Amino acid sequence: MQPSSINNYDPTQTKSWKELDQHFNEIKDQSLIDLFKEEPNRLSHLSFDEGNFYFDFSKNHLTKKTLSLFASLANEMGLSEAKKALFQGQKINKTEDRAVLHTALRNPADKPIIVEGENIMPLVSEELRKMKDFSIKLHQGKHLGYTSKKILNIVNIGIGGSDLGPNMVCEALKPYWIKGMNTYFISNVDASHIDPLLQKLDPATTLFIIASKTFTTQETMTNARTARNWFIEHASVQDVKKHFVAVSTNEEKVREFGIDLQNMFKFWDWVGGRYSLWSSIGLSIVCTVGYDNFSKLLKGAQEMDDHFMQAPFEMNAPTLMAFIGVWYNNFFKTQTQAILPYDQRLAYFSKYLQQADMESNGKSTDRKGHQVKYETGQIIWGEPGTNGQHAFYQLIHQGTKMIPCDFIAAALPAHDKIDHHDKLMANFIAQTEALMKGKDASSVKSELEQQGMSPEEITALLPFKVFDGNRPTSTLLMGKLSPENLGGLIALYEHKIFVQGFIWNVFSFDQWGVELGKQLASNILSEIKTGDVHESHDSSTQKMIRKYLSHKGS
Ligand code: F6P
Repeated sequence: MQPSSINNYDPTQTKSWKELDQHFNEIKDQSLIDLFKEEPNRLSHLSFDEGNFYFDFSKNHLTKKTLSLFASLANEMGLSEAKKALFQGQKINKTEDRAVLHTALRNPADKPIIVEGENIMPLVSEELRKMKDFSIKLHQGKHLGYTSKKILNIVNIGIGGSDLGPNMVCEALKPYWIKGMNTYFISNVDASHIDPLLQKLDPATTLFIIASKTFTTQETMTNARTARNWFIEHASVQDVKKHFVAVSTNEEKVREFGIDLQNMFKFWDWVGGRYSLWSSIGLSIVCTVGYDNFSKLLKGAQEMDDHFMQAPFEMNAPTLMAFIGVWYNNFFKTQTQAILPYDQRLAYFSKYLQQADMESNGKSTDRKGHQVKYETGQIIWGEPGTNGQHAFYQLIHQGTKMIPCDFIAAALPAHDKIDHHDKLMANFIAQTEALMKGKDASSVKSELEQQGMSPEEITALLPFKVFDGNRPTSTLLMGKLSPENLGGLIALYEHKIFVQGFIWNVFSFDQWGVELGKQLASNILSEIKTGDVHESHDSSTQKMIRKYLSHKGS
């Protein structure tokens, strides 16, 4: 149940929201450049260092007053109480009657957290110990394959939260990979994903991690069975236990699948799938980069948790990011949020955030069960710079839509190609300046004059070369993309998502919206298998099933 101290109502009906509305009308037409001119200290109160991160929120359409009005909104709605409810393990995931405790997974072991009368920290520590022992055995060649060869390939089979987080982290921590180890992620039920991988793998040196919270997900179980069948074409059924481990909350299903419970790594229903990379779902991370690096990832996240709990709203990075997101989403009506990491290692970061954010806050029913009358979850998308610059930045610079962008970079690379890195960083910095300043007609004119163009040519070309600028960005610069900093970065966005969901008054930790598609797919699958197409489908759906069947038949 929602704790009574937390207000649970339409944010747009609060006093602070009404003040924000008024304030929006006052500042909406002011340009970013004007805001800088009017506030000489703008940078000092809209940027700060926190741990290994530097945050710059100054190139946004807001003032100190905007953030203080949001702080009042947060107070009016009871954000501090909601944060406590999250960290203390109250059942804030009301529709599933569950606590939401990904923060417990990185909590120091000596700080008890009680769920249903039980201190869960010993359970967390025990599972971490198991993961550590297992990975050490693997890396030291004590857990060997069926021909006594060392395991060199890890294949994580999972989807959604059981794939995106670990995959993103392993990619981001490439420089920390244990030498000789190769890790792969298989998620799609499309066999074009798993087939080519199986063709190149040696079963004798491959370990499959079947990662599924429920152990019932169609994609994962199909891929897991395919992997198992492939394996026993080469080895015997008795060898399966050396090459297959499970990560799940569902012992019964793991046993049913034929994985020895000794080879099962547990987690619990109070860990949401998209928040689970810190749990044993992170086994693939531990096997890839070693337990020490995994514990640094946890430590970085835990430091961000402390910052989130302790810093006042005005200096609280995840909270400010949430405020800024709501400001654009609900007042400027921007709809989308671009995530632009200037780091190839973060290639999967926006993909990971899509699930974390959109599955959490893509809701239209409020916490009382009413339809919301305001906008909720943002559309999250993005690609690493500089690739994005040569793809979609045109629209960000000169399109009709305002797209708030998060620019993320690490100042210190993991390689020694300094020239590459200087160029990457120059682009990272230049883009936020270009997006804010744009290019006015007189600069374009003098540039074209210098190129020797005639006045007629200049008049014709000028409107296309003008950039209005005034496009908002937030910038996050960290030292290195180390395991600690990556942990902090992920926790930063997790808490941003929490605060936004809280303000929008939605339940961020369930995901009923994905169920209908699963149900219908299962019905259609049985029609495909039997050839008996149900008349209850609409005509378009019926025809599509029949079309598929006729292709299949031919
Ligand atoms: O897409 C729905 C979902 O339930 C996600 O929330 C989850 O991360 C994913 O499916 C995978 O679920 P599981 O880990 O149970 O296989």
